[in-house]
Amino acid sequence: MGEVRSPPLAASQMRMDADFVAREQPRLLQELVDFLSIPSVSALPAHASDCRRAAEWLRAELTRLGCPVVQLIEGQGHPVVWAEGPQVPDRPTLLVYGHYDVQPPDPIEEWETPPFDPTVRDGRLYARGAADDKGQVFCLLKAYEAVLDGDGRPPLNVHFIFEGEEECGGETIVDLLRAEPERTRADAALVCDMSYYAPGWPAVYTALRGLCYAEISVRTLQRDLHSGAYGGVAPNAIETLVRILAGLKDEDGEILIPKLYKAVVPPGKKELKSWKRLPFDEESYLREEVTARALTGLSDYSVFERVWALPTLEIHGIRGGFTGEGAKTVIPAQATAKVSLRLVPGQRFEKVARQLERAVAALAPKWADVTVTILHGGDPVQVQVDHPAFQVLDEAFESVVGRRTVPARSGGSIPIIPELGLTGAPVMLTGIGLPDDGLHSPNERLDLGQLWTGIQVFGRFLELFAEKGGQGTRVEGEPARMGEAVEA
Ligand code: BES
Ligand code: MN
Repeated sequence: MGEVRSPPLAASQMRMDADFVAREQPRLLQELVDFLSIPSVSALPAHASDCRRAAEWLRAELTRLGCPVVQLIEGQGHPVVWAEGPQVPDRPTLLVYGHYDVQPPDPIEEWETPPFDPTVRDGRLYARGAADDKGQVFCLLKAYEAVLDGDGRPPLNVHFIFEGEEECGGETIVDLLRAEPERTRADAALVCDMSYYAPGWPAVYTALRGLCYAEISVRTLQRDLHSGAYGGVAPNAIETLVRILAGLKDEDGEILIPKLYKAVVPPGKKELKSWKRLPFDEESYLREEVTARALTGLSDYSVFERVWALPTLEIHGIRGGFTGEGAKTVIPAQATAKVSLRLVPGQRFEKVARQLERAVAALAPKWADVTVTILHGGDPVQVQVDHPAFQVLDEAFESVVGRRTVPARSGGSIPIIPELGLTGAPVMLTGIGLPDDGLHSPNERLDLGQLWTGIQVFGRFLELFAEKGGQGTRVEGEPARMGEAVEA
């Protein structure tokens, strides 16, 4: 580390008491179970009041933790929870981000125990949101609690921002930060919504993919028709839709949207080399994580390149026609598919949206009404991890877990990340999940060992950051830049 802004905390001021977790485990587990029991599914309007309950749960918790400012900030959708810890003069400010909303739990019949009835099995807590992201938000709150002194004072300034629309593409937090960018002013932002690279290998993320989520609708008839009477002449909406979808990607995994790959900035040699050093066993990845018989996609590229550095096109669901019990002989008049593209550095959401619209229009037969509705999206992000704050994070992980973070990328997206870094603060993307936590899948879980060590890691981080403030000299390179391509 280079220069240090604040005087170091004396050893006696180090408050992260190693016994906190051991002593408080039963209470902490019960609190997390309460939080996870709230079905805060942001995409489903029927759960709007549950999302609010989760926000209220956070409000109560942050108030209990002694934050003098705790607000629910309203927008079009689910509220943003904003809180400020007590002001601590001459100490740095950390912005903590997370989300309290979760993905829909379906297919519900595949859960061994109900998604909102959190259950411990084999040291893991099963519930929707256990890892993504309520369990990780909880981890940060408890790390904060662990470093409060006897008078409830933290060792540094902490601002909390928790949104309730991360999983559904809501705009409340975007609107808030566009109107009030100063809210994100901090010495660093900490985002705990990711996972370790592998058990025992904590990670920091140097890039997230962007997203372009769309609905493609096809109408071929005014009404459904008898498939015997009209089969052979009447255009079938589902058939038309699947032909369009098939025209968007070939069997080898290449997306056929014209010029889509043109903007893609491939990872640099150094970064590719660093991925080669990561422990990776394709066989067990295939069997245990992907749970398939074969990996698909662009086979000229490594698995890392395919999930971290190349765009994708996925079909999420198709609606239309008859899907009930038994048989109904009908030609569907209407069909809709939900699809999304993941975007990588170099690509822009708005541009890809136009490219998708044009490609679908070109594939649509003249006798069908085909519409593309862009539901939401976000740009990809790249983060430089050479700011001294990352060394502080490394130190915290090393002292608790015994290993510093490895730089990795994520194939997933967190749309608000570019906005969090706009005032120049380094954005630290990390997490305590494990790769097989089953995010967005049935039986999502959080390894409780990860939670307990995570509380200690972030408690340690808060203390170290309070002392060092992330000030110092960079290891190399330019100031952290967000949302643009960085030469690796
Ligand atoms: N926590 C995830 C992002 C993530 C995914 C991190 C995989 C690490 C590995 C996040 O909550 C998420 O799932 N985001 C959505 C955003 C989308 C709905 C805009 C995603 O990536 O699908
Ligand atoms: Mn998440």
